[in-house]
Amino acid sequence: MAGAPLSPAGTPRRREDPRGPAGQASAPRPGPEDGGRGRRPVALVTGASSGIGAAVAERLAAEGGWRLLLNGRDERRLAQVATRTGGVPLAADLSDARARERLAEEALAHSGRVDALVAGAGIGWAGTFAAMPAEDIDDVLAVNLNATLHLVRLLLPGMVDRRCGRVVLIGSMAGSVGVRGEAVYAATKAGLTAFADSLRYELAPSRVRVSMVLPGVVDTPFFQRRGAPYHRDRPRPVPPDDVAEAVFRALRTGRPNAYVPSWMAVPAWLHGAVPGLFRSLAQRFG
Ligand SMILES: NC(=O)c1ccc[n+]([C@@H]2O[C@H](COP(=O)([O-])OP(=O)(O)OC[C@H]3O[C@@H](n4cnc5c(N)ncnc54)[C@H](OP(=O)(O)O)[C@@H]3O)[C@@H](O)[C@H]2O)c1
Repeated sequence: MAGAPLSPAGTPRRREDPRGPAGQASAPRPGPEDGGRGRRPVALVTGASSGIGAAVAERLAAEGGWRLLLNGRDERRLAQVATRTGGVPLAADLSDARARERLAEEALAHSGRVDALVAGAGIGWAGTFAAMPAEDIDDVLAVNLNATLHLVRLLLPGMVDRRCGRVVLIGSMAGSVGVRGEAVYAATKAGLTAFADSLRYELAPSRVRVSMVLPGVVDTPFFQRRGAPYHRDRPRPVPPDDVAEAVFRALRTGRPNAYVPSWMAVPAWLHGAVPGLFRSLAQRFG
């Protein structure tokens, strides 16, 4: 089901009742041209100190009309992105439960509300599952899955009260089809997909929309940081700006799923529709 259309500033268009379908709570108003700083919708972007999250911050800054709250761990890189985008840096390690709670508190204290959460923080690990150290399993689960679910839990109530908001989760093609040597990473991303699918049922009566943006391979420091650079010929890495564009569209439209590049929807569909065929193709070409 499509969500309430959003203006370029990420807000409901004027033809809709800004108080929402039930007329109970005010929804975020259109952008700066319309009412000054206090009325711009607020987006919290995690993973904003690098790669996709930084590109999302820059895309939203270029569009204008958003108040940006930016999370990452590396304070220096986060500050640089904040300077470029006019965002507010809120550094925190999301794998720490107390730090996540503080982040949510600081975000709400600073802006009074969070209208959109873009959950981009994530880490990878490459190698056989049998060789994966227990603590690395815990780290990947903690950042990619646990922290994301808890951050949504902390920020969703305000959106539900206002009956309007956006949650955009950065999943992965790996979570849709599984990838050799990335079993735990793929499991976390599949978990996010199932979480988003389930949450949508609960939120259907409201105008809160949950979107998954599912990239294939993106040219970011992700691979370097996981200790295994990407060196396959295909699929070719796409620039993080392509993912940021998909996030931006998800914020506007509330559409449920967006693969980046879009042709990635084909193997994802094949995996679901004819899993046996998919597996034999993946064994041969994967
Ligand atoms: N690159 C790809 O090919 C690809 C493909 C599909 C999906 N994705 C997903 O896209 C998302 C962004 O990845 P990326 O490619 O942009 O990688 P990246 O450049 O390595 O960025 C990862 C971001 O996550 C943040 N982060 C990691 N652990 C954190 C923690 N404990 N607490 C708070 N922040 C933490 C990092 O913050 P610091 O730098 O400050 O530590 C950084 O901002 C991830 O969820 C990833 O799984 C990436």
